Amino acid sequence: MSHQPIHVATSSTPALDAIVLAAGQGTRMRSKRIKVLHSLAGKPMLEHTLRLLPSLGVRSTVLVLGHQAQAVRDMLEQRHLSLKELRFAIQAEQRGTADAVRCALPELPSASVDTPSQVLILYGDTPLLTVERLQMLCTAAQSCGLALLSTRLSDPSGYGRIVRGADGQPQSIVEDRDCTDAQRRIQEVNAGMYVVESQFLRHALSKVQADNAQREFYLTDLLKHAVAEGIGVAVVDAPAEEVMGINDRVDLSQAEAALRRRINQGHMRRGVTLRDPTNTYIDVDVTIGSDSELGPGVVLRGACRIGAGCVIDVGCVLTNVVLADGAHIKPYTIASDSELGANVQIGPFSHLRPETVVADGAHIGNFVELKKTRMGPGSKANHLAYLGDAEIGAQVNIGCGTITCNYDGVSKHKTIIEDEVFIGSDTQLVAPVRVGRGAIVAAGTTVTRDVPPGSLTLSRVPQVDKPDYAEALRTRLRRSKGH
Ligand code: UD1
Ligand code: MG
Repeated sequence: MSHQPIHVATSSTPALDAIVLAAGQGTRMRSKRIKVLHSLAGKPMLEHTLRLLPSLGVRSTVLVLGHQAQAVRDMLEQRHLSLKELRFAIQAEQRGTADAVRCALPELPSASVDTPSQVLILYGDTPLLTVERLQMLCTAAQSCGLALLSTRLSDPSGYGRIVRGADGQPQSIVEDRDCTDAQRRIQEVNAGMYVVESQFLRHALSKVQADNAQREFYLTDLLKHAVAEGIGVAVVDAPAEEVMGINDRVDLSQAEAALRRRINQGHMRRGVTLRDPTNTYIDVDVTIGSDSELGPGVVLRGACRIGAGCVIDVGCVLTNVVLADGAHIKPYTIASDSELGANVQIGPFSHLRPETVVADGAHIGNFVELKKTRMGPGSKANHLAYLGDAEIGAQVNIGCGTITCNYDGVSKHKTIIEDEVFIGSDTQLVAPVRVGRGAIVAAGTTVTRDVPPGSLTLSRVPQVDKPDYAEALRTRLRRSKGH
């Protein structure tokens, strides 16, 4: 008996391609910038949507652009958003959401009976959507030709209403402007996210007409066509907050507040104390270790990575800062693009500008500004100083009022201060200059040449004392004022 190859039927899930619509101007934003490029919690609106796609196992994505297409492409590049198989379709004239999807079709992998596939359609202006909700939508779509998300709103105005028949089955979606008075009272609305079987999508789109108040081709007509052709439909209910569409800046502020609440609760659940969560602003990509504590008014922007057991006190604004465990950032410190070691103490009122590195255990105090400067382990600059383009070793003491004169009006120059140096108060270091290991620079010195290791260096005008001259001087000064 010969072995015949056995053909096993697999119930593999169909491939999923995504179309994201972002061609509209978003006139209600009243902005020079298109709507989907406005940002929430540190990310452009559109990026919030695009970031969901990889976790859904999407095979390819078509982004439909129109207004400011180049600006959107630039944003994707700047933000390093590289989606698998990302293609662009241009919808030159915005003739409605169905027209936009039609523009995307040529960019999709071709569908055939042998290789079933589904298309996930999202709008670029619903940034609060979650992966979990889309997974529910995909699951629902496994047993029907069209699955869509809906929500219930106490004020549904502006949204498309889901009209159900006497049997309770969804029949059609009617846009706000096309509603009868009775339909306008329907609170179940279309959220604007769909999973559609590819062949039905292509077929139904060819039938969509612009027979509505706006003379636009509405994607929402898919439902009507599915019902007419006996295609199975699933409507998945979602919490209103997750599917909120942004149309103007009031919506934007509400969405951002909701996102902030979600982000802050996430951090608190992972063991971070937020003294005043309604007044703490943390961008989406920020990470914070457990037992860290944030005071009121703290703003953490961009890609901050905060270690465990850190304290970031009132009013600090950190942008792209990497902070090791146990750091203490005292009130009103501003820092960006900097790396701060374990157990550092920074602030109050410190200003750390880009490319600052503060090693473990170092202290930076009030009114100290650092730029492109490396501060070695255990070193201190506790009051009123400017340290720019400097390399400072370990266990160095920088006295109050020290200034690196790093700029000659044309170029920037480096100051190097080796380990265990003591820089007295009110010292100017005219760069390029090096202070050798263990040297002491006396208060009030202007350092213009390299200081040898171990040297005591001072450059001062000699002090002159005139005995009893004070009273004589005072008398003369008073007399000149007529006293
Ligand atoms: C749409 C839905 C509505 C739903 C609501 C949810 C339609 C007809 N209506 O209405 O049922 O309740 O979303 O938020 O789909 N776009 C294009 N090209 C176009 C038109 C729109 O790319 O020609 C893009 C827009 O840039 C935007 C998205 O599609 O990202 C939605 O467009 P928008 O005009 O905001 O639709 P709504 O009127 O909100
Ligand atoms: Mg909208």
